Amino acid sequence: MKTRMIAVATLIALTSACAQKAPTTSAPQAAAQIDDARLANAASEPQNWLAHGGTQLAQRYSGLDQITPDNIAQLKPTWSLDFDTNRGQEATPIVVDGVIYVTTAWSKVYAADAKTGKLLWQYDPKVNGPNAAKNCCDVVNRGAAVYQGKVFVGTFDGRLIALDAATGKPLWSTATFDPESMQAISGAPRVGAGLVFIGNSGGEFGGRGFVSAYKADTGELAWRFYTTPGDPAKPDGAASDKVMAEKVQATWFGKHNEYRGGGNVWNSIVFDPEFDQVYLATGNGYPWARTFRSEGKGDNLFIDSVVALDAKTGEYRWHYQETPGDIWDYDSVADMILADLPLGGAAPRKVLMHTPKNGFFYVLDRKSGELLSAEPYIAGITWAKGVDKKTGRPIENPLARFDERKMPVVVSPGEGGGHSWNPTAFSPKTGLMYLQATDHSSARHIPRPSFEYVKGLDNIGVYHFATHGPAEPEPKPDPTRPKPVPYLLAWDPVANKAAWKTPGMGSAVMATAGGLVFQGHSRNAVMGELSAYRADTGEKVWSHETPNAIAGGVVSYAVDGEQYILATTGAGGGLILAATPDVRERQPGRLVAFKLNGTAKLPSDPPPAGPVKISTESFADTTVAQGKDLYLNRCARCHGLGTHSPNIIPDLRRSNALLDASLWKSIVEDGLLQSTGMIAWKSYLPVGGAEAIRAYVAMTTKAEATPVKTP
Ligand code: HEC
Repeated sequence: MKTRMIAVATLIALTSACAQKAPTTSAPQAAAQIDDARLANAASEPQNWLAHGGTQLAQRYSGLDQITPDNIAQLKPTWSLDFDTNRGQEATPIVVDGVIYVTTAWSKVYAADAKTGKLLWQYDPKVNGPNAAKNCCDVVNRGAAVYQGKVFVGTFDGRLIALDAATGKPLWSTATFDPESMQAISGAPRVGAGLVFIGNSGGEFGGRGFVSAYKADTGELAWRFYTTPGDPAKPDGAASDKVMAEKVQATWFGKHNEYRGGGNVWNSIVFDPEFDQVYLATGNGYPWARTFRSEGKGDNLFIDSVVALDAKTGEYRWHYQETPGDIWDYDSVADMILADLPLGGAAPRKVLMHTPKNGFFYVLDRKSGELLSAEPYIAGITWAKGVDKKTGRPIENPLARFDERKMPVVVSPGEGGGHSWNPTAFSPKTGLMYLQATDHSSARHIPRPSFEYVKGLDNIGVYHFATHGPAEPEPKPDPTRPKPVPYLLAWDPVANKAAWKTPGMGSAVMATAGGLVFQGHSRNAVMGELSAYRADTGEKVWSHETPNAIAGGVVSYAVDGEQYILATTGAGGGLILAATPDVRERQPGRLVAFKLNGTAKLPSDPPPAGPVKISTESFADTTVAQGKDLYLNRCARCHGLGTHSPNIIPDLRRSNALLDASLWKSIVEDGLLQSTGMIAWKSYLPVGGAEAIRAYVAMTTKAEATPVKTP
């Protein structure tokens, strides 16, 4: 047994109580009494939203039908609750017997009264600030799990914590990985069979993916399953050891070290009580370039796969790999949805539906893992012509392999995918699956000539964010390259075709028995809107502006016979990269609740951010060019491409530090703000590098603010 397996839970002495009780309200005494039977029958209590995906089928379908296309004009805000953080919010709330449990940025947990929005308790796990730099897309958290009177949260720095659902007091806490490793938890735990299942992210940082199951009552580790192999000579002492030796090692080539990893389960895990199975949806390989990861060959199991395990032991049952040997960042982490589909046999088939980034809609038999169908759900896929139904393998386009060809190639979908992690929904009433989709998204991938693992950095073996490699001239805009076309898609998984498409960009989706599909949107990355569509036709029937963008989950519940629609709002996540001319002041994330004839007014939109800072200094062109390269490679993933950011993570063009070399140095080199995630970059920058980046940001800001003279 390796030391990693002996993760013994620490029972927390309650002296350092981080839980704060609101003085005015008392929480219920016996809260959240949810057991396996209640979870398995969650659909019979539509007034609640008991699990991340609503029920254990994870369909994000509410059986409530009070709000319909006919009365939705009366759907109005009824309350909102501000969080104490202005960073990214992606959580799906859980609602049990009139109490909402939701997580926020920095893995904090809130319990609120579902009728009034009144805070019952909150808990701050005090995530280690510098750990915030160990993920692509802000310190987001996608939600809690609630089970056996406890609320479970995975923290960004890798702890799994059980809280008393009645009081918010911590009961146990365990480190799911070494906090020094390049991993983070952004996903929600899932529960079932007395266990709590939790994964992690890290596929851009060299983190090797795995999922652990802990006993819900004590926090003791029950099993761990790695999704990519380690050193064949040194088994992990984990549930995955057998399948690693029998199936996985042979699909990888080259070194057994940090140069191979990924397969991180950072979003979807589904527990299926019918087969006592847990399904894992895995991410891209590390690094993206297979030449560096696996000598340019091999399928590299279990990256970009659906893997089914015995829930009680973690033993391997079956897998289906969606993008073998991926080099395009085609994470297969999208929500997995379980359903019974009439596929022509005597009885409905028990299936798992999946819409990964790679653009194909997969229907798998969830007992055996057999591929039932795989059709493109978007237009414009160039990496594969289709999926061979006999072998289950994609019919790849060899020209898309920029890595092995050692040349830049435009590939569709791009790294954002035909669809990414954003929650999808299935209505058993319409038989349709609903998801945000994008036709013709594409990326120009440029291979790097060499690769060196640097601990602490995202390094993926390709030029990320660059439109051209350092050695090549800026490419001319290609008028033949199609523009991305985003829309809300209703997909018929039996007929294998779109039922309707409604144009627009959006995020999380929820379907209801009232014949509606709700979806969250962003307005200019920072502000947002909640919309509703007819589930049968896609006609937009309602929308309401929200002060915050919505990337997190939308759910429905009822209290005292009234149906509510609830959304977690707050920009961040992938939106930190959105280019917008309409930069705003930072604002707190919040819950917003709607009901028929609600009478509340939501807070106003945040005011425009202050002006950009214009420098009077001058810098050498070579310094600015060096700064640009460093900015793209070290700063852009948080502060935005081309120095532009919507200001969720500060827009550096507006920073006071931009005109103050010594303040800039103390922030960028020495880590003055590291407690909120802006780490000290000194060891990752050459001497003079921080100042070169300041030169680049200052000169770009100045050039853009200076009107171009037309002759
Ligand atoms: C992992 C995300 C991340 C990366 C990468 C990152 N930063 Fe930051 N940066 C932050 C966050 C978060 C803050 C705001 C902290 C706060 O509000 O307390 C910040 C703040 C700053 C500020 C202060 C802005 C202000 O006026 O409030 C400067 C300057 C800055 N960063 C420069 C850089 C530079 C230069 C790089 C690249 C070398 C970089 N950052 C890379 C996350 C990041």
